[in-house]
Order: sequence, then C-alpha cells, then structure tokens
Amino acid sequence: VTPMRIKVELGDRAYEVLIGPGLIAAAGRHIAAVLPARRIAVVTDENLAKIHLSGFVAALVEAGIEAVPVVVAPGEASKSFRTLEAVTDALIGAQLERGDAVVALGGGVVGDLAGFAAAITRRGMAYVQVPTSLLAQVDSSVGGKTGINTRHGKNLVGAFQQPALVLADTDVLDTLPKREFAAGYAEVVKYGLLGDAGFFDWLEANRDAIFAGGAARVEAVARSCRAKARIVAADEREAGERALLNLGHTFGHALEAAAGYDAARLVHGEAIAIGMVLAHDFSVARGLLAPADAEKARTHLSDAGLPVTISAIPGPRFEADELMRHIAQDKKVRRGSLTFILTRGIGQAFVAEDVPADAVHAFLSEKVNAP
Ligand SMILES: NC(=O)c1ccc[n+]([C@@H]2O[C@H](COP(=O)([O-])OP(=O)(O)OC[C@H]3O[C@@H](n4cnc5c(N)ncnc54)[C@H](O)[C@@H]3O)[C@@H](O)[C@H]2O)c1
Ligand SMILES: [Zn+2]
Repeated sequence: VTPMRIKVELGDRAYEVLIGPGLIAAAGRHIAAVLPARRIAVVTDENLAKIHLSGFVAALVEAGIEAVPVVVAPGEASKSFRTLEAVTDALIGAQLERGDAVVALGGGVVGDLAGFAAAITRRGMAYVQVPTSLLAQVDSSVGGKTGINTRHGKNLVGAFQQPALVLADTDVLDTLPKREFAAGYAEVVKYGLLGDAGFFDWLEANRDAIFAGGAARVEAVARSCRAKARIVAADEREAGERALLNLGHTFGHALEAAAGYDAARLVHGEAIAIGMVLAHDFSVARGLLAPADAEKARTHLSDAGLPVTISAIPGPRFEADELMRHIAQDKKVRRGSLTFILTRGIGQAFVAEDVPADAVHAFLSEKVNAP
C-alpha cells in the first residue's frame, strides 16, 4: 500500500508525514531515504517495547541501520528532568554521533521527551517521529514542539525542533487501549471545530468507521495532519493562527492540573473534550454562538465515548476558584482580562483577547456543579 504523504512546508526544515498501514515494517527504507544515519537510538516506553519494538528494530536492521533501544517508563511522569537525563546519557553512552539519529517510537510522551533529548544532545541531532497513539499521530508528532514538565507545570522546558520525518502507521492503533483512542479522537474533532465545518460533517458521518479502522481511519489521520501541517507552516512559533490549536485547552489544562495529572481520573484528550464543550458553552454565554452548534459539538464528542462535563470526572469535586488559579498560571492575566479561543460556529474558532476573568469565573462556578 502506498502511504499518504503530507508535506510540512518549513523551508530548509521542511519534512514529510507518511500515513498508512504497514509503515513500521517499511520504516528502515523510509528513514534511510531522508537520513544518512547508520546508527539510530529508538526511544520508546515499556508498553510499546512489548508490542512494537522488535518489529521496528528488525525494519531498521533490514535497511542496514543499527538500532540502540532506549526504554522509559510509560506515562506523563517520564516527561521529567530525571528521565531526560537518562535518555541523553543513553544516547551519549551508546556513542551516537551528531550524524546519527533518534527515533521516538510511542505516544506524545515519548515524542516530546525523545524530541527534546534530540534537540539538546550534542547541540542537536536529527530525529524521526513514529507516533503510535492517535493523539500523537494527529497532533504531537507534527509541528516540532518538544519538551518536559517541571514542578511548575506542563511543557515548561523545551525546544522547537522539527523532525526529519514522521511515520504514522495506522495499524499500530489496533493495540491502543480504547480509552486512549477516544482521547486522541478529541483532537481529531478539534480540527473540525476550529476551522473546518466540512471535516466536522465528515466526522459525523464516519465516526464509527474511524474507530473500526481501515480507510476511514487513514483519512481521518491524514486530514488532521494536513490541517496541523498547514497551521504550523503558516505560524511555526505560535505568533498568531497556531493559537487556534489551543481550542479547549485553557479549560482542559486547568482540569488536568486540578485532577493532579492523574490518568485514572482524566487523560489529556478527555480534558480537551470537556474543554472544547466548555469553550462552546462559554461562547454561547458570551452571545457569540448559537446554542444548537454547542449542542452539536457536545453530542458528537459524547457519542464518541468522551466525557463532556466537569462532573463526569471521577474523584473529588472541582472548585471554580482552583480552576481559575490554574488558568491564571497557564495564561497571562492582563488587567483582569484573558486570551481565549472562542467560536462563532462549527469551524469558526477565533482568538478572543480581553475576555474578562470575572466572566470566566462566573461561568465556571455554574459549570463545576452542572450535571
Ligand atoms: N508536542 C506537541 O505539540 C503536543 C501536542 C499535544 C500533546 N502533547 C503531549 O502528548 C502527551 C500525550 O500523548 P499521548 O496521549 O499519546 O500519551 P502517551 O504517550 O502517554 O500514550 C498513552 C498510553 O498509550 C500507550 N500506547 C501508545 N501507543 C500505543 C499502542 N500503539 N499500543 C498500545 N499502547 C500504546 C502508551 O504506552 C501510554 O500508556 C502529553 O504529554 C502532551 O503534553 C504534545
Ligand atoms: Zn491537546
């Protein structure tokens, strides 16, 4: 099967995203076509090491590339200085040279961590993203944001470092837990909601087929990557349009933080599903959006098996004051105002500056207790 190819147009740092079934088995050939590396560190997590590492290593060996596996613990906690140190030590200890390369074989955690390790080891090594979660295939593997978390919050230390290639093998999603698939699907829906009503309609007609796999899934990943690639090419450093990708993320990040980043309660894509519904409801409350459009977004996400209310998050109740503290930490509050991604319709998100913090607080006070 010939993979779909999407180019991320970034001048001398341009690269391609290949999407389709069977890409892991052909990975050595695709990587050798863009990089001269004879030795490659394959950073992955323990879950993936059990299922997909040996096949990936075999594909490299077949192309005459020596693989050096570097396995980290699964989960957000691996985006830490401690694990970063272990990965950079492994790269240097294996005597990888600047001309060698790093592969991130995993979800967004491995991608952000390995990408950042590649950005800083020997002042920058080439790296390839092989995203294995739906979220990583449609979002984190494209765009060059890499980094780790600190005690002050998520993604606070990092670098922009574009990969040399992205290989999104849609078959590997078959082993992804159902809950993680649904979470990644929230980011797929995001592209429709933020700027493409036609894509949202297509998702309404094809959601079950996308979850089942096959051609619809490949197309959903490809259309999402194309949307992200276009936005990143237009605004690599998030001076403008790229901010639209944060639809649902201000509320979502606050919920993740308030839930203590406890994956048993909430994973990122679930937080974004709730956050996007809140952004739509808040747009209705601000008189910007027709209630029927907010309902459409909510129903689609809910039917995909995603949580859409704050009260759906298991565990202790949330307080509006605490959520506001996280929002203030996440964003600069300028003279009582916040910048938010709001929307005027399906596919019509925009950057709203000067949203009064008071209005957000009042809105959240109602939503924390809403059924
Ligand atoms: N750099 C960016 O632009 C960007 C964008 C969005 C999110 N992110 C980051 O991405 C991270 C979340 O990524 P994620 O949702 O992929 O989480 P993850 O990397 O933790 O993966 C989720 C879980 O699924 C498992 N898994 C992944 N692929 C699998 C497969 N094919 N089969 C079986 N199990 C598999 C992992 O081991 C893990 O337990 C967050 O840290 C977030 O900050 C980064
Ligand atoms: Zn996200």
